[in-house]
Amino acid sequence: MRFDRHSPIGVFDSGVGGLTVLKALMERLPLESTVYLGDTARVPYGTKSGEVVTKYSLANADALLEYGVKVLVVACNTASAVALPALREALPIPVVGVIGPGAALAAQTTKSNKLAVIGTPGTIASGAYQQALAAVRGGLEVHAQACPLFVPLAEEGWTEGEVPALVAARYLSGGLLAEGVDTLVLGCTHYPLLAEVIQRVAGPTVTLVDSARAAADHVAEVLAERDLLERDAKTTEHHYLVTDTPARFIEVGARFLGKPIAGAKQIDLKLRG
Ligand code: DGL
Repeated sequence: MRFDRHSPIGVFDSGVGGLTVLKALMERLPLESTVYLGDTARVPYGTKSGEVVTKYSLANADALLEYGVKVLVVACNTASAVALPALREALPIPVVGVIGPGAALAAQTTKSNKLAVIGTPGTIASGAYQQALAAVRGGLEVHAQACPLFVPLAEEGWTEGEVPALVAARYLSGGLLAEGVDTLVLGCTHYPLLAEVIQRVAGPTVTLVDSARAAADHVAEVLAERDLLERDAKTTEHHYLVTDTPARFIEVGARFLGKPIAGAKQIDLKLRG
C-alpha cells in the first residue's frame, strides 16, 4: 500500500452523520484532501449488532484503501465503539476513532468528575465511552443514555423548537441530569446539530463536548508524528462516495457539512468472508 503526505484522509460513517466530523477535519486541516464514504445503503448502524457493524466497517475501510488513503477516520461513533480493534488489526494504515479523543477531552473538561454520555443504543450498550473515560482517569462517575430519536430529528432538520426540546427533555431531564453532571459528551455524529436544544435542556452548568473536534485534533497529531501532513494547497480535493443513490445524501448532507456537496459517486461494498 503506497501513500505519502499528498494522499487523502479516508473518512467513513454509516451515512450523512460523519460529515460533522469531516467538517471539523476540514476546519482543522484545511490543506488535506479527503475521501468520505457514507454507507447510505445500510444506515443506521446505531441499532445493529456489533458483529454486523464490524463487517460493514471492514468493507468501508477496504473501499477507502483503494483510494490510497494515508489514515482512516472512523467518524461513526457506533463503528468506533465496536469495530476499532478489528479495523486496526486488518489495516496497514493508522485508524482513528472518535471515542478515545472525545473521552480524553471530556475528562479534561469535567471539574465535578461527574459526566454523562449520550449516543446510539449500540454505542451506549458497548460501554466504549465508559471504558475510554475510565482509561483516561480513574474516579470518574459516568452516566449514559441512548437517545435514538435524535438521529431522525437531525436528518429531518427538526433541530429547533418544541419537538426536539420535548424529546431532549424526555431523554435527559429524568435520570441523567438529576445526577448533577457538569459535562455531557455528544457521542453520536448527529448530535452536534441538536447542540443548542440539548444545551438549553441541560442548562448553563453543563458543558457539551463534541468528539468531532477532538478527533480532528487527534488526526492532526497522528499525521504530524508520521510526517504525513499535507503542506501544499494546490493538491487539495474532496471526494464523496455513497452506497445508495446520491440524491438524499447530497441534500441532507449539506446541512451536516455546512456547505453544498457538489456530487457523490455510488459504489458497491465488498463484504469480507
Ligand atoms: N453515525 C452514527 C453514530 O455516530 C449515527 C447514525 C447511525 O445510527 O448509523 O453512532
